[in-house]
Amino acid sequence: MKVSIILGTRPQIIKSAPVYAAFRRRSIECEIVNTGQHYDYEMNRRFFKELELPDPARDLNVGAGSPSQQVSAIIAGLGELFEASRPDIAISPGDTNSALAAGIACAKTGVPVAHLESGCRSGDFRMAEEVNRRLLDHLSHLLLCPTKACVANVKREHVLADSVVNVGDTMYDSLLKLSQRAEASDPGAGMGLRRGEYAFMTLHRAETVDDPRALRRVVKAVGGLPLPVVFSVHPRTTARFRDFGIAPGQNVKMVEPLPYIETLGMVMGSRLVITDSGGLQKEAFWLGKPSLITRDTTEWGEIVSAGAALLVGTDPRRIRQGYARSEAIRAARFRSARRIFGNGRASEKVVGAVEGYLRKAGRDRE
Ligand code: UD1
Repeated sequence: MKVSIILGTRPQIIKSAPVYAAFRRRSIECEIVNTGQHYDYEMNRRFFKELELPDPARDLNVGAGSPSQQVSAIIAGLGELFEASRPDIAISPGDTNSALAAGIACAKTGVPVAHLESGCRSGDFRMAEEVNRRLLDHLSHLLLCPTKACVANVKREHVLADSVVNVGDTMYDSLLKLSQRAEASDPGAGMGLRRGEYAFMTLHRAETVDDPRALRRVVKAVGGLPLPVVFSVHPRTTARFRDFGIAPGQNVKMVEPLPYIETLGMVMGSRLVITDSGGLQKEAFWLGKPSLITRDTTEWGEIVSAGAALLVGTDPRRIRQGYARSEAIRAARFRSARRIFGNGRASEKVVGAVEGYLRKAGRDRE
């Protein structure tokens, strides 16, 4: 059995690392193919090292380009690769352009595909990620869902996969594995910040950062909050600050994209998280921190329903009100809800589901 994991961006590396390790523990051949959608060292290869992934078997190096250029270059590169070395199954994690392109390349070369993190929905079709995740679900043979709600979504949409399995969230596996080192890293202390007295922020979604009005409004609102804010700035956001001539408030400290362990360490030391990232919403939740989501929708409605996060959009008044309301959010109230995303052993369930799928596919062929 040969499994190929296709990844290319920061969150895909975090989702895939424990899955790779689980396949190797079972002595199953597993290779990593890196699309290179994220090409800066800080956004890609640094995470291979931190999360103990081997060098990729192939690097497509697609690099910068418009979404359609990236998607088509990845389809072409993977198509050629799959024609030459046919994996029994490919795993495509998340909702990025790389994830969708991997699904299309599999469909065109007859390689079965498993979508890892299947079924989450924000309902917002303006987001590239929503389109990607819906299309990829429909292209996939095996749907590996992180929560019960995700299973319900694919059932409701009548997605015609061969198998749908609630495995839990493999990002939670990664977090648990590295949480002790994250706790010890305490990067806030190195910045002269006291635990529980700062906010940690990230922003990178095209709908926020490519829109000068939305970006200005968030920056202004955050600049008015009564606490220091550490802002880990994605390269896309750095470029927009420059393009739009925006400067952060006095209380905001902008830092380069942080390594994974330090990111978790920042969240652990923070009072709250402000973000438009899907992954960071979950990490804040698992680490018992409230978050303000600077969007109107989220694909992780479970976290909002558990009372751990508030959808505040980009309106400064809602951000200020959200901040005031976040004071009342207590981790104890949502701690028990963490199990929504499984028990931190999702990767083993992924391996079991893939083995089960391939056994059944083999029997069906006989
Ligand atoms: C992508 C994913 C998003 C994921 C995020 C994590 C899509 C549609 N979006 O968004 O779901 O949450 O990654 O970070 O796939 N850039 C650099 N250096 C890099 C990578 C990107 O400078 O290493 C620049 C690109 O040239 C581009 C911009 O950042 O101008 C956006 O990159 P892109 O990969 O299109 O999307 P992300 O915003 O990173």
